[in-house]
Amino acid sequence: MTPAQPLGNPAPANGRIPAASARLTPERDFSLYVHVPFCSVRCGYCDFNTYAVDDFGNGVGLAQYADDAVAELDFAHRVMQESGVAVRPMYSVFFGGGTPTKLPAKELVKILQHAISLFGLEEGAEVTTEANPDSVTAEDLKILAQGGFTRVSFGMQSAVPEVLAVLDRTHTPSNVPKVVDWAKEAGLQVSVDLIYGTPGETLDQWRQSLSAAVSYRPDHISAYSLIVEEGTKLWAQIRRGDYSMPDDDLMADMYLAADEILSEAGYSWYEVSNFSSSPETRSKHNLAYWHNQDWWGIGPGAHSHMAGTRWWNVKHPVAYAGRVRENLSPAAAREVLPAQTQDFEKIMLELRILEGLERDYLEKVHGARELDAKLTWLVNQGLIDAESLAEHRRVRLTLRGRLLGDAVTRELLPDTD
Ligand SMILES: C[S@@+](CC[C@H](N)C(=O)[O-])C[C@H]1O[C@@H](n2cnc3c(N)ncnc32)[C@H](O)[C@@H]1O
Ligand code: SF4
Repeated sequence: MTPAQPLGNPAPANGRIPAASARLTPERDFSLYVHVPFCSVRCGYCDFNTYAVDDFGNGVGLAQYADDAVAELDFAHRVMQESGVAVRPMYSVFFGGGTPTKLPAKELVKILQHAISLFGLEEGAEVTTEANPDSVTAEDLKILAQGGFTRVSFGMQSAVPEVLAVLDRTHTPSNVPKVVDWAKEAGLQVSVDLIYGTPGETLDQWRQSLSAAVSYRPDHISAYSLIVEEGTKLWAQIRRGDYSMPDDDLMADMYLAADEILSEAGYSWYEVSNFSSSPETRSKHNLAYWHNQDWWGIGPGAHSHMAGTRWWNVKHPVAYAGRVRENLSPAAAREVLPAQTQDFEKIMLELRILEGLERDYLEKVHGARELDAKLTWLVNQGLIDAESLAEHRRVRLTLRGRLLGDAVTRELLPDTD
């Protein structure tokens, strides 16, 4: 989800990264995110920084976007060199949106190849683009694969027309198997995103979507619970009483159905909402985020992180284009993360992944005696796995723990008072 933009501190116009962060970068993986803020239609539930507008006037829009992204890439490369940040080959690249495939495939390849010419690409790196199921042709997918993309992530959301209608989706269920086949023929790995808990969706309809998704044999499936952010069209519809949200019991049953149907079909969870056909097909890019590695986010509203310094770009495409065309940092603000915030984030993110969180890291936060009491309670409640704790000294969620992950996280976060 796109977090609401925090307040932060002023970001320098030259983009310079603080020396204390720059020093730490050689040891850390470096990834690239490219945000493409254009969509054909704005879905009622979506809170991402995206616009159903192709041309903002004054020479800003979809037609100029690749050049603006290339300008920010050049800026990023220069800032890294000038700040003493290690310029190193990219571990993963992710084009997200919005709908990146609103751009012609050749332009996505142009941005990617420019980034590779500046930074290089690690061997075996994952290069993903998101795509709506009705936004690509077989030819586009071939161009992407030939141009260096290795993976595509389709926003399937549901296989049920009524559910897709509540979500304002423009594609039909039959688009999905077609594009998945085209992507595989092009040699791309495939992921599909599903959403559960849409107003009015029944457990049976959700099971139907899961069964359809596994029948297409993608390499990876994400199953997200619907988040209704204030200010979205869906939020207003719910407030007006047009729709009502599912209750917690139904949401829990839906998560259990996902775990059951995906496991039976050979997909294993490796993060609470993410399942893959094998360890090799886990998303490297997402794992880099969850392990709090470094990434540069290109594009309006994109967030970046370098060893404890985080910044986020201005949200509007016109303001963004104005800055990058003047060789100025497009950052709206930034923050240098205090140690306690870094503890908070590590605990929140790593608890959600399969390998879990090191017990000894938590001991640093809570002290041995208090931590042992907390962990014993969590094991007795069936929320964390006793064997991982005893044998690997790692705090790993059980299935019940994944259902009640927020409660486990609250128990293990440092006290703030
Ligand atoms: C950046 S979005 C968009 C990708 C593409 N534009 C599409 O919609 O097909 C990536 C994924 O986030 C998920 N997502 C977006 N908004 C969500 C929300 N409010 N609640 C839960 N999942 C959401 C959807 O599954 C979506 O496929
Ligand atoms: S197509 Fe994707 S990014 Fe665009 S509005 Fe819909 S969910 Fe959001």
